Amino acid sequence: MSAITSDEEANAIRTVFVGSDQVAAIGQGTWKMGEVTSQRTVEVDALRYGIEQGLTVIDTAEMYADGGAEEVVKEAIKDIRNQVFLVTKVWPTHQSREALPKALDASLTRLGTSYVDLYLLHWPSQSVPLEQTLNALAQVQEQGLARYLGVSNFPTPYLKQAQELLPDGATIAADQVEYHLANRRAETALIPYCVDRQIAVMAYTPVKGIPSLRPASAGYRVLSHIAHDHQVSPATIALAYLIGSGPVIAIPKAIQYRHIDANRAALDVLLSDVERQAIRRAFASPEEELPYEAL
Ligand SMILES: NC(=O)c1ccc[n+]([C@@H]2O[C@H](COP(=O)([O-])OP(=O)(O)OC[C@H]3O[C@@H](n4cnc5c(N)ncnc54)[C@H](OP(=O)(O)O)[C@@H]3O)[C@@H](O)[C@H]2O)c1
Repeated sequence: MSAITSDEEANAIRTVFVGSDQVAAIGQGTWKMGEVTSQRTVEVDALRYGIEQGLTVIDTAEMYADGGAEEVVKEAIKDIRNQVFLVTKVWPTHQSREALPKALDASLTRLGTSYVDLYLLHWPSQSVPLEQTLNALAQVQEQGLARYLGVSNFPTPYLKQAQELLPDGATIAADQVEYHLANRRAETALIPYCVDRQIAVMAYTPVKGIPSLRPASAGYRVLSHIAHDHQVSPATIALAYLIGSGPVIAIPKAIQYRHIDANRAALDVLLSDVERQAIRRAFASPEEELPYEAL
């Protein structure tokens, strides 16, 4: 299949394949969780509530709250591990052949599980050659510690390179990148590339800017109008737009139940071509490819 051929086709996607697993196109982020002890119960409850609503992709990282977010996730999933699709990430300073397995082992301990469903390189590394990291990734997959492998913050050419450098038989199942209405760079090259190769695109910061839209702005007016027609909130429409753009899983972080409900509602909203075009017109976005940055 070539890139998305029509908005109608794009709108048909409400679940996304990661490898051979079919998951809901809205998941849950955990950035900022695990930072404040007094918030822990609220965060655990929010994640569990979201999982009950079907938001079973849980995205975390060793870097979030220095492991604290993974510990929150551990508590949230302790008796329901097999109901979630668990994603964590390795920070660039841990991407050498010696450090990566240790980092994953520490993540697994904090998460209270013997495997993750998807293990991502959080950012490209400035210091470790990519090929070395990819060999280490493939090895932890072979050991059954990570079911699928992926990257994050990799623009299209670098994603392509990662796939080429992986040992035979291993594949990149996902690329997690910034994607929201004010930054639709992922649409330029990455999403069409991933459609063709059955790679999932995970959209981070997906509701960025939506709650603070000025009522006089074109974006606010268009989203409010479409939201009114569908009887949902503007954030729901923003998320429905993103997950209608291809094999996209949006991972909003939310601790308020009304936000979780609004995010869940996006799975049921089908936007028309006209609505999608109106949204595109109302939100200016740079058209160039995602930037390359190594940390
Ligand atoms: N790979 C990377 O480099 C990278 C970078 C950044 C983020 N991420 C991942 O992506 C996830 C999402 O990004 P993010 O947390 O930075 O930003 P986000 O999900 O776009 O925004 C989170 C904020 O939006 C609010 N919110 C959530 N749903 C809402 C809704 N329906 N209506 C109005 N407000 C809503 C939340 O409020 P409440 O919490 O009060 O409900 C929270 O303040 C992260 O948590 C993390 O897992 C990955």
